[in-house]
Amino acid sequence: MLNKNPYNLCVAPMMGHTDIHFRYFLRLISKHAMLYSEMVAVNAILHNKTSRYNKLEHNLDNPVGFQLGGDDPRKLSECAKIIESYGYDEINLNIGCPSKRAQSGNFGACLFSQPEIVAKCVEEISKNTVLPITVKTRLGIDNLNNVKYLKDFINIVSSKGVEVFHLHARIALLKKGINPKHNRSIPEINYERVYEVKRAYPDIKIILNGEINDPNIAVKHLQYVDGVMLGRVVCNNPFILNEIDILINSEQQKNRNEILEKYFSYINANYCKDMKITDFTKHLACLFKGYIGSKHTRAYMCHELNYEKEPLKKLEKLLFKEDLWKDGQGLYSKVV
Ligand SMILES: Cc1cc2nc3c(=O)[nH]c(=O)nc-3n(C[C@H](O)[C@H](O)[C@H](O)COP(=O)(O)O)c2cc1C
Repeated sequence: MLNKNPYNLCVAPMMGHTDIHFRYFLRLISKHAMLYSEMVAVNAILHNKTSRYNKLEHNLDNPVGFQLGGDDPRKLSECAKIIESYGYDEINLNIGCPSKRAQSGNFGACLFSQPEIVAKCVEEISKNTVLPITVKTRLGIDNLNNVKYLKDFINIVSSKGVEVFHLHARIALLKKGINPKHNRSIPEINYERVYEVKRAYPDIKIILNGEINDPNIAVKHLQYVDGVMLGRVVCNNPFILNEIDILINSEQQKNRNEILEKYFSYINANYCKDMKITDFTKHLACLFKGYIGSKHTRAYMCHELNYEKEPLKKLEKLLFKEDLWKDGQGLYSKVV
């Protein structure tokens, strides 16, 4: 680990985003940030259903945690052993996902009301791995919406060895049938409750998550908690990690073109014909936001590039032929 506190800056686990390629790209931008995989359910690992590519594989992206979804202590424990063998730095349990699928499988946020099961899961996992086990959860669910319950949850789960909790600073509304997207914007965020939890647990690392979209605000939160975890903002602007590293990890400003060149070399080395090139390039689409023609370019990076005969050549031209990143002088002009 590079930092004294490896958790001061974390990138949230996000399905469809924090895959092996995006994490590689993010690692080029920040050598400090703690990264997390997408959530993978235990059955997907045990039955080897990890879709187009093996979601367990990773590439020069440490420190990185693997996020698991499940409620069966034995299965979770089996998965932990497999995850450790792939070289991850941590196992993170998802106790925050509000989706219908998670609820019907009794994992994610609904486990918040079953802390004894979570504790049992942690106990079994720790028998099979030396990796730290951490928990990502919410401030509450439905009517379990008070700081006392949250502290009871932390007491029970930390008694089995969990020393790091990532708290998405809002509750999850499960019974109201709100979908996961809306469960990320309502109800209101409550940072104060997370600060209160931190004050009560000086020896446990409390990482704050939820709508932290500005580097200076991230630094302010760090007065009250051990770390900040950023989600959607990183998908929209990955270079925010460098801005925060400059403020908290004594880093220099990174050169955007150099990072793109390195990521292009990575694509060149790893892409082959039976893959979708957009699995690599969809993560770059956000860089075109705000430029004239960006809508078309983003669609191209996410879909149409797959249909090109020589996609790498096209991509190279798109990224480097013109000086894309000089406002008003390159292939695109920034919309003001
Ligand atoms: C597209 C998407 C996928 C997500 N997938 C996961 C996931 O797999 N596991 C998880 O714990 N949270 C997941 N989340 C929630 C985020 O980790 C984070 O808690 C949430 O977005 C709030 O942080 P933010 O306001 O910084 O985005 C996801 C969020 C988004 C937007």
